[in-house]
Amino acid sequence: MQTTLLSTGGPVRKSFRQALNRSGMIVRQYTSEAEQLMDFAASTAAGLGSRPRSIQCRFLYDARGSRLFDLITRQPEYYLTRTEAGILAEKAPLIRKICGPTTLIELGSGSSEKTDHLLDAWLARGSSVRYIPVDVSESALREASRTIVAKYPAAQVLGISSDYRGAFPLFRDTSPVTLVFLGSSIGNFAPEEMTLFLHELSQSLCRGDFFLLGIDLVKDRKIIEAAYNDEAGVTEAFTRNVFVRMNRELGSSADPAAIEHVAVYNEARERMEICARFCRRQVIRIAPLGQDFVIDDGEEIHTEISRKFRIEQFIPFLEGFGFTTEEVFTDARSWFALLLLRRNGNSPAGQGGRS
Ligand code: AVI
Repeated sequence: MQTTLLSTGGPVRKSFRQALNRSGMIVRQYTSEAEQLMDFAASTAAGLGSRPRSIQCRFLYDARGSRLFDLITRQPEYYLTRTEAGILAEKAPLIRKICGPTTLIELGSGSSEKTDHLLDAWLARGSSVRYIPVDVSESALREASRTIVAKYPAAQVLGISSDYRGAFPLFRDTSPVTLVFLGSSIGNFAPEEMTLFLHELSQSLCRGDFFLLGIDLVKDRKIIEAAYNDEAGVTEAFTRNVFVRMNRELGSSADPAAIEHVAVYNEARERMEICARFCRRQVIRIAPLGQDFVIDDGEEIHTEISRKFRIEQFIPFLEGFGFTTEEVFTDARSWFALLLLRRNGNSPAGQGGRS
């Protein structure tokens, strides 16, 4: 698989337009390794220095973190992926009928397996489709693109290795678009991040473009908590892995074995709260900045939130960003929902909106 680097700034869209006519390629928003490292170091130092201490969840997804997350989705307790895939398997033909000929863009595509249902629907009866997966993990993107190119020779696959916001300016060149954001990844955003994300996403779509959004729904806390505390300990390894990454990239010498994964459902805020609890005092070094952070025995570092939604509350919030709801699909137990929205002509809400 060939990778083309897109430099940031003016020529990005030109190179992207050229790449649009080819298949089996990956384009990467260019940030140097030094810039990426400084971003990780500065953001982690800021998070460790604040109260409560935190690490941004985007750093959980290095190559090993992406593989571990893929394993999480296969754990018996983690109902989200299976439930969403079940809805997609049933509804993909209808979704295709509503959306029509389109470019399928998938944000945070990861291993892209659920996308098979959409590609099957779009490629039925000899038609073709352009599929653009977007993911920060270039290794996950590469693997997924390779699998899809082999399985669906009629699909034109063009991967974008970038964070979501870096890819937004490229969407207008591909309209009509069906933007797919599955897995309830929107639940990992802090409220102000979610507002900014929806605002920018809405502005990057053209009138008439579709937005297919997967959301995990509020339910019995035991079911939710079990999903983030799997028996096999994969989610624990996923949480600890960010410290393994810090040791490798930031010279931190943390002891992951002395760090516990704690995942609790906050009923009042309707969200999972996940953190790393230190079982003994450790000094975490951020070598590129020459900074040390003393984390005491019992102290917690927040790594993720995973919000759960109520359809009747979330839809009006989404509609405030210039979307109209076309369809709401759920499973028989109402554990998960797929919302099919359409960009209307209204301007999106300002960044001050709340859900
Ligand atoms: C990616 N995201 C939707 C997952 C979730 O369920 O919030 C991340 C995850 N973290 C631990 N388990 C799953």
